[in-house]
Formats: sequence, C-alpha cells, structure tokens
Amino acid sequence: MISQTLREARKYEEVSEKLIDSKDRPAFHLSTRTGWMNDPNGFSYYNGKYHLFYQYHPYDLQWGPMHWGHAVSDDLLRWEYLPAALAPDEVYDRDGCFSGSAIELSDGRQLLMYTGVLRERQSNGGYREIQTQCLATGDGVDYEKYEFNPVLDTKDLPEGCSRNDFRDPKMWRSEDGTYYCVAGNRPADGSGQILLFTSRDGFEWKYKNVLIANKNRFGKMWECPDFFKLDGKWVLITSPQDMLPYEFEYHNGNGTLCLIGDFDEEKGVFTEQHDQSVDYGIDFYAPQTMLTPDGRRVMIGWMQNWDTCNFREQDILWFGQMSLPRELSIKNGRLFQKPVRELENLRSEKKEYRDIVFSDEIRLDGVSGRMIDMEIELRQEEGQDVYQKFAIHFAENEKYYTSLSFHPSDSILKIDRKFSGSRRAIIHQRRSRVNSSGGKLKLRIILDRFSVEIFVNDGEQALSAILYTEQEAEGISFYADGTVHMDLVKYKIQN
Ligand code: FRU
Repeated sequence: MISQTLREARKYEEVSEKLIDSKDRPAFHLSTRTGWMNDPNGFSYYNGKYHLFYQYHPYDLQWGPMHWGHAVSDDLLRWEYLPAALAPDEVYDRDGCFSGSAIELSDGRQLLMYTGVLRERQSNGGYREIQTQCLATGDGVDYEKYEFNPVLDTKDLPEGCSRNDFRDPKMWRSEDGTYYCVAGNRPADGSGQILLFTSRDGFEWKYKNVLIANKNRFGKMWECPDFFKLDGKWVLITSPQDMLPYEFEYHNGNGTLCLIGDFDEEKGVFTEQHDQSVDYGIDFYAPQTMLTPDGRRVMIGWMQNWDTCNFREQDILWFGQMSLPRELSIKNGRLFQKPVRELENLRSEKKEYRDIVFSDEIRLDGVSGRMIDMEIELRQEEGQDVYQKFAIHFAENEKYYTSLSFHPSDSILKIDRKFSGSRRAIIHQRRSRVNSSGGKLKLRIILDRFSVEIFVNDGEQALSAILYTEQEAEGISFYADGTVHMDLVKYKIQN
C-alpha cells in the first residue's frame, strides 16, 4: 500500500519535472528530478539495471523532510527517473528517511535499509532527533516498509552510543551469506565511530563491535560510512563533519576520508594503515560504492559541499547533482579513481594535438565546449629550466572563466572558480599537492554543463567542483610562463 504522503510526492514530481528543460540540467550526471537532492543512497545493481536512490526533498530547493528519489540506468551515466521510493510516512520516520543502502535478498526482492528520523520534544522545549535503522522491501519500483521497524535502535547499542547520531547504514553480504552493515555513530567523546552489525537473514540485526573509533582525529561525527575489500586490502570511506585541514588534506570542512587497512573479521575490528582525502576539489560528499556485475568497485558522491549550498543559480528549478561514477583501485597504498569506462562510449569528435610547444597564451582549433572529456600531458623543455606555471581557462567568454593552474616548483595544482559567475563570497578555490617531477603532469578534465571533474595522474587524485557559468561561455585557453610541451586529446560528450 502506497501512503498518501508518497502518493503526493509522486504526483508532485511528475508534474514539476516538466517545468525543467533537459538543457538546463547536467547532461551525463544525475541531478534531482525536482527540488533538492543530497547524498546518494542504495547504489546497487538489481534486475538488470543500476539503481541509484538519493536524499530528496521534492517540494523545495532547500533541504527538508527527506524522501528517497529513485533513478535507474544501463550505463551509470544516462539515468531514467522512477517514482520516489520512500516518504516520511511512519511514526518512526515521520521527520525523514535519511541515507542508507540497498541489497538483493535471496528470494529476489530488493532490501532497503535507511535511517528513520523522529524529532522528540525535550523538557527544555527544544527538539532532538531520534535516529533508528529501518527496512523496506520491494520490486525495484514500489517498496513496503517492514512491519517490525525499526530493526536497530538505542536498545541495540552499547552504553555511551548516541541515539541522536546513529545513521546511514551500508549493507553488504559476505561470501558465506552473512549480512553485514556499518553505520555512523557518536560516542561519548563527541566525535565519531563506525558500528558493525550482522544478520543471518537481512531482517534480524545484531550489534557486533565498534569497527573503528575516530577519537577526535578526523573531524567529529562520521557520516555515510562504506566498507569494502579492494585489491587485497579493506577500505573505509566515510564523510566526517567539521574537519580541520592538515597540510594539503581535508580542506573541505565536511569532507571525505579514505582509510586503507586490514579487517579482523572475527573480532570485527578494522586497523588503518593509510589515510587520505577522497576528493581534493570543492564539491564532493557522502560517497557510496557498489560492485558492478563485472567486479568493479564503483563510487558515486554528492557533488556538493554543505558549506557552499548558497552558491546556486537563482532561476534553476533543481538543486543537487551526483559526481561521475568512479572505478576504484589501490595503487602504491593509495586510493585511485577513474571515471567509469562507460563514459568512453559517449565520446565523439576527437581532436588530437601532439607536442604543442608554447610559452604564452594559446588557443587550439576545435578545443572548446561545455560537455567534454579532455586528456592533457605536460612536460618541460629538455635542457631548460622547468616552466614556472601552466594554466588552462575553461567555461570562458569575455566575462567569465574557471581556471586550473599548476606550479611545478611546489607541485601545487589549483582550481579557481572565482570568476565563474558567482555573486557569493564563499570558497571558490582549492589548492592541492600533486605528484610531479620535472614539470610532468597528466590531467583528465571532464566538463558537464554545471561541473568540472579533474583526474590527476591516471586517477591518483580527483578534484570536483560545480559551476553555474552561463552555457555560452565555452572557450578554452592555455597559458604558460616558461616553455611547456603539451599533448592533448579532446572529445565531445554526447548524451
Ligand atoms: C550527509 C547526511 C547524512 C544523513 C543525510 C540527511 O550528508 O547528513 O548523515 O543521513 O545527510 O539528509
């Protein structure tokens, strides 16, 4: 039975999406069907399609009572909207269906696990959220909430675990068929920890252990955890709130953290050996991963920063888009990310230049556009000092541009969207340290109508940023201080 609340949301989104011209949306990144979108949820493969749900407030361009939006795709890039999957319509989730995950049950149904939120009146007159973990099952379109919800609440937690910050369950199934789930929680020290739960059937869940505690090292509360095996190691990806920057890591306030290490399955303990940011740009949060049928670990994130949500276009009727899905691997102990290979099928109109040599400003015939995939390799002039600076301006016209600049002397790559058309005094720049010597650098730059994503050195680092520059600004120019040698391949992306 579909509730009145869900029925209304479904009716509303069907009518109001028609007000948005597809040319006013990203072409190959999923954006909200209407209203507001945040975290990706339930990223999975089910009944022959990729499914992506998302935190969704259809009625407004601001965050509000959370629903789950829903879309499906054959190639992870071109998405088709399905009716909203969940609405806040039960006593235990009256104030929101927060983030969660999806898995296929042995009987063929899809199981969703999400955080139910209920605001509870306090004795001082204020409110506090009670967060519990809840289930819904369905056929890929319609979902029914489990009659014994919530399946995990404060009774299941050890002493000292907050019931107000207990959210974002991510499930997986181990080879022996056991269901596992990790969720974010706040312990007594006020920072974050990841709790591990197990289940034999996906419905009856038991607390196992604290998988790992933050102990106030990386920000505070840890949101949206994801835990998986990759290239012989175990990886925890989580989104800490309130991070302090450390050198060139963790500049995003609410940021993304990747820990690589080992997992003692018996004890349920994860020990980290390496930490890094997941994305070094401005806009990336709350990523979630899935395993594709051909065995790739693919991650997708909300291409947004909570602190820059006021950076928006006034007359656009949607807010929120996802990053490109990215294939993950571990190389030299670090997380590598590459756009899913399916993107190559959308390439057309190849333009190629080999060994362009320049030491001032140049433009290249046929190199422009706002929906492009471009690979650049830089080198210095043999026998000369390494160049001082390289820069590329894109989404450019007489009034606007966004730049990516590189200084080999300190290996700093900087993205700057200050002149992209923003009228807000918020963060528009991010500097990151990249791996380079002798002026060598490899960049892959992907532009969609409202974003740029940069992959450095074959995926060693990724930087994402949203852009609202008018679409007519499609120029691209290159700058060098000193002599730069450049190879370039550029494709148009057709959706
Ligand atoms: C992360 C987050 C999650 C929560 C959701 C609510 O961006 O705060 O922890 O489930 O958003 O929309």
